[in-house]
Amino acid sequence: MLNVSQIISMKSKKKIVILTAYDSLMASLLEASGVDIILVGDSAGMIFAGHDTTIPVTMEDMLYHGKAVKRGTKDTFIVMDMPFMSYQASVEEALKNAGRLMKDTQANAVKLEGGEEIIPQIKALVKAGIPVMGHIGLQPQSVNIYGGYPVQGESEKEKNELIKSAKLLQEAGVFAIVLEKTKKETAKAITKSVRVPVIGIGAGKDCDGQVLVTQDMLGFFEKFSPKFVKKYENIARKIKKAVKTYALEVRTGKFPGNKNSF
Ligand code: KIV
Repeated sequence: MLNVSQIISMKSKKKIVILTAYDSLMASLLEASGVDIILVGDSAGMIFAGHDTTIPVTMEDMLYHGKAVKRGTKDTFIVMDMPFMSYQASVEEALKNAGRLMKDTQANAVKLEGGEEIIPQIKALVKAGIPVMGHIGLQPQSVNIYGGYPVQGESEKEKNELIKSAKLLQEAGVFAIVLEKTKKETAKAITKSVRVPVIGIGAGKDCDGQVLVTQDMLGFFEKFSPKFVKKYENIARKIKKAVKTYALEVRTGKFPGNKNSF
């Protein structure tokens, strides 16, 4: 399994590959396919639980998903998303909830969305021995402030603010930073400005690694598909085809045949 120092030393040498998982089966498939890191994202709230945003996701939800993912892996580095309002209110809340995520799921790190406003939380977590991945650019937990999911860092001023946030996160001790939905020029500048790896999602090819929601890149989640997602498969179509065939065979008496009977 990779450790935090090895992940940092991959910067500019080897692209870091991250995908999400919320369950044991998917986690085991990702591990068998050789991803570097599995993210138990709070995107589980939308992809797995059917919510419109990540806002309703609870600590209990994340603990459930994290434990399942851990059971499906042997030696893959696992990062747990901290759900909305599990860390924003205070350093104490952040410590209590991150500690619980680490202890109960046996994951290797936590991820928090935010910049300057959560620096005290990040410093306290790192001091307590909890590796932290940052997340700047588009922060899906702030959907109600944005009123949607807009591209971030478009103006020079916003780009400089993001560079400042990345540097602050680095000084606070994060081992990597997720950068979501920014112009590729902005992402390139941010990636160059810090010593820790910047992991892009909708942030172009110049980042040190990439993360996608697995169900998006597999064409499993059909509700919507952001422009930055490349579909490597169309699993939803395959599932529907297989289920229709099964239904037809049950209805016509073709299944179960002798091969599937005792
Ligand atoms: O929740 C999530 O899955 C994420 C990734 C999309 C970066 O934060």
